[in-house]
Amino acid sequence: MNRFPFPIEITPSILAADFTILGEEIKAVEEAGASGIHVDVMDGHFVPNISIGVPVVESLSKATRLPLHVHLMIERPGEFVQAFARAGAHRIFVHQEATPHLDRVVASIHEENCEAAVVLNPATPVSTLKEIMDRVEAVLVMTVNPGFGGQKFIPQMYGKIRELHELRSRYNYGFRIAVDGGVTLENAGELAAAGCDSLIAGTSIFHTTSPGAAVRQMRQFAIEATSQRV
Ligand code: DX5
Ligand code: ZN
Repeated sequence: MNRFPFPIEITPSILAADFTILGEEIKAVEEAGASGIHVDVMDGHFVPNISIGVPVVESLSKATRLPLHVHLMIERPGEFVQAFARAGAHRIFVHQEATPHLDRVVASIHEENCEAAVVLNPATPVSTLKEIMDRVEAVLVMTVNPGFGGQKFIPQMYGKIRELHELRSRYNYGFRIAVDGGVTLENAGELAAAGCDSLIAGTSIFHTTSPGAAVRQMRQFAIEATSQRV
């Protein structure tokens, strides 16, 4: 039985969108019922790539009514929480590996009235979040090494997803389980069955002929599979 009936979230990652027509891309997924827009922020230090920053989040907040989920792949994330929150972020994702002061950063996200999500790189165990998981809105399991879109899903991450699902069942934690990296129509069902409520996907949504249809299908596959949860 699914004891945590969070509605399934499908969150397109704009890293894979066509930036020359970003407004149209967002409109298409918004009309198809996307739950939010995932915005990847990279600084060229924490990850070996540079992407987008505060001004883009500010523009997006004017262009869509969807919640903006800002994934910080940057060093010193605590120093940027306020700027992203004030630019319009609704949920802020911070990597466990990016700060020795995770509790302080999570508190600062809440002070800005945003949802706090903590993120685990593929090699970081779930146990590193033991002391914080009772007060975050989401835990994100990276299913690729962060930095680039279009990478191959790492199947060993199913173990982490199941472990998180089991922990929240046992202790009644209220966090969502999110996955990011290599999420496709092929694995959406299995991910939801393992306990994921939040599917973040770039390539498999925007590199298709119809991003809207991809969102609808992914949601349907995930919802169908939640009945298989233990
Ligand atoms: C990777 C980013 C992801 C990325 C996912 O570092 O955090 O959000 O956009 O892209 P796909 O879905 O193409 O793997
Ligand atoms: Zn991301």
